[in-house]
Amino acid sequence: MTTLSLIKPTGHLTLGNLLGALRPMAERQDDAFYGIADLHALTVRHSPATLRALTDEIATLMLAVGLDRSTLFVQSRVAAHTGLAYVLECTAYTGELNRMIQFKEKGRGVDSTRASLYTYPVLMAADILLYRPEQVPVGDDQRQHVELTRDLAMRFNATYGPVFTVPEMTAPPAGARVMSLSDPTTKMGKSHDDAAGVVHLLDPPDVVRRKVSRAVTDSDVGADAVRPDREAKPGVTNLLEILTACGGSATGITTYGALKAAVTDAVVAALDPIQKAHADLASDPGHVQSVFAAGEQRCRDVTAPVLAAAQAAIGL
Ligand code: TYM
Repeated sequence: MTTLSLIKPTGHLTLGNLLGALRPMAERQDDAFYGIADLHALTVRHSPATLRALTDEIATLMLAVGLDRSTLFVQSRVAAHTGLAYVLECTAYTGELNRMIQFKEKGRGVDSTRASLYTYPVLMAADILLYRPEQVPVGDDQRQHVELTRDLAMRFNATYGPVFTVPEMTAPPAGARVMSLSDPTTKMGKSHDDAAGVVHLLDPPDVVRRKVSRAVTDSDVGADAVRPDREAKPGVTNLLEILTACGGSATGITTYGALKAAVTDAVVAALDPIQKAHADLASDPGHVQSVFAAGEQRCRDVTAPVLAAAQAAIGL
């Protein structure tokens, strides 16, 4: 079973990235390709130096979370991604790209929107289809993109011949949509300006404690105040989900104070081994670079025949 997923270097990685993607990725490493989507970070205003630094940081963190049996790569270093993206742009319809949430929310109608923000979902489809994966482990926010990928694969195969595997998205049972601690109706996102609501993987324990202790809950003080209810109690529901996803239990917890203490302990315990491994790996950047260089060579070997097959099928 081949598995593939990528992470965009647009900010420091968050607890959402860990629970929604990195941990599920670490559980599937037998024939796995995991990458850093640096080309996707160019779709909005960016700083070249920050992009490079975040790419290095995420590379180190991917190893620190235990992705040591997977093929790791930086997207821009595997040329077939952009090669296949163009072929798929000639498969995708503007109607379906107009419906993509990111473009609708961040770019439509704004003159200075980069053209790449519009075509981004097609590049993501190329990222996936190039490796013929059966599974794509991602958080819930990527559902629409994986659906488009499936549509493009089926359309291409039906029109030009069976080149691509149609992938399935897999999301974890808990943690597929971690919400901001300060506004539990919005996603915990790495590129947002939400210092209080986002837990980063490299936050020290006292920072985690402070952020969780200030998490938004509600004014319910009833005996059953600590219960999941996405509509009526989004903050409490989010904390409960984080607790479960980090391996903790809410059994016997009746107050928000006790819930926040349990969440803090569970999150600190989940981050501790990652932070230790990160510190070790960061002192040996040559090792991280060589793991990625070997992964990128493997990716070039694996993707070249798939791109060639797609080009041949479409008449190039
Ligand atoms: P990105 O970089 O925004 O997020 C990386 C992964 O983390 C998941 N995630 C979350 N999961 C749960 N709760 C959250 N709050 C949360 N925030 C992020 C995302 O779902 C994702 O799995 N377009 C992608 C990157 C990409 C990609 C791909 C993914 C490019 N090519 C090919 C899969 C396959 C993105 O922007 O993810």
